[in-house]
Amino acid sequence: MTTVYRNPGLDLERGTAGGEHAPCAMSRRHFLLTSGATTFTTMVVLNAGTALAQKAPARVAVFERKFIARLSELEVDVPVDFTYPDEGAYAESMLVKLGVPAGGGIGPDRDVVAFNYTCTHQGGPLQETYRGATKSLGPCPLHLSTYDLTRHGILISGQAYQSLPQVLLELEGDEIYAVGIFGLIFGRYDNLKG
Ligand code: FES
Repeated sequence: MTTVYRNPGLDLERGTAGGEHAPCAMSRRHFLLTSGATTFTTMVVLNAGTALAQKAPARVAVFERKFIARLSELEVDVPVDFTYPDEGAYAESMLVKLGVPAGGGIGPDRDVVAFNYTCTHQGGPLQETYRGATKSLGPCPLHLSTYDLTRHGILISGQAYQSLPQVLLELEGDEIYAVGIFGLIFGRYDNLKG
């Protein structure tokens, strides 16, 4: 298991700037994080609790802040579609209130998360594949990859080998904003360039 150890600019668990540091279960040994308007450095503990434990730097890129939805209007297991960080290819994304705490979740129950809709394998569309019973996206219509939205979009099954990019969220009062992306969007060599 990987634990976020230090995060001076952005609290990944709560998606708020300048928040308290909090443990955060991650799926990969290495975070592929992209460049953008603002970049924060965070320390990540790999293989926490083992003799191989070590710290490694990771970067969190923060893009333009975009209003997505009001917390009070969300219903459990009813996704809200949006595009981020732009209107270009593969920018389709979804926000959902899972009803259970999740990695990177915001709100009083830490259960509101957002993810890109494009399968990391070969770009299959994951729209309309959200399953409330398993809190997952998938199976992908192309090769059946399925992703766990409670654990930063890690792969549950299928052909993909990378997690689904997670949209970083910020809560201001009742308003939810997208502020960055954790991971590289399929089909892009930079999240801000198609
Ligand atoms: S494109 Fe989604 S599993 Fe292959």
